[in-house]
Amino acid sequence: MPSPTRLVVLVSGSGTNLQALLDACADESYGAKVVAVGADREDIAGLTRAEAAGVPTFTAKVKDYTSREHWDRALADKVGAFEPDVVVLAGFMKLVGTTFLDAFGGRTVNTHPALSPSFPGMHGPREALEYGVKVTGATLFIVDAGVDTGAIVAQTAVPVDDDDTEATLHERIKVAERAMLVDAVGKMAREGFSVEGRRVRFGG
Ligand code: GRF
Repeated sequence: MPSPTRLVVLVSGSGTNLQALLDACADESYGAKVVAVGADREDIAGLTRAEAAGVPTFTAKVKDYTSREHWDRALADKVGAFEPDVVVLAGFMKLVGTTFLDAFGGRTVNTHPALSPSFPGMHGPREALEYGVKVTGATLFIVDAGVDTGAIVAQTAVPVDDDDTEATLHERIKVAERAMLVDAVGKMAREGFSVEGRRVRFGG
């Protein structure tokens, strides 16, 4: 069996997407391994999940650096120390900068709880609800310099119910989002992928 694709996962919160990846990686045939988990803050469930799985962790907090650029370089260095093939932003609530993208652009994915290009930014589920769409979902994309603008790797749709709140809708999205993330990252690992303009394809 070829050596597993090395994943570094970055988190900022509860880390249920991370957990889904950790669970998938427990099966060797999945083709990937989480080699480290990083965060932009301490005391979050995401880091606890990594520690429970025996995965090394690190943090890079913006306020510990003199500028956003220094933070970005430090983050890139910390991620680079684990020699990832693919970086997964899984609920990571910071925009990475130029240094990070120079190092890991084209092989960093992020998951967003809306169907891009609709509702980019921090409040995808709330804005979908306010707009009144009947279908929303989640998008996995290749990170670029924009906010949720990168080339789309995978999407999954979920219905919006009449009595949804932001919380119930986001929770339904997250169930589908985790399945999408595990499926797509597994394919990236086992089959490889290419990015041509805005088109992402699995396979060599
Ligand atoms: C996900 O819905 C992600 O798309 C959004 O924040 C949520 C993170 O959830 N940016 P978790 O930390 O993986 O549980």
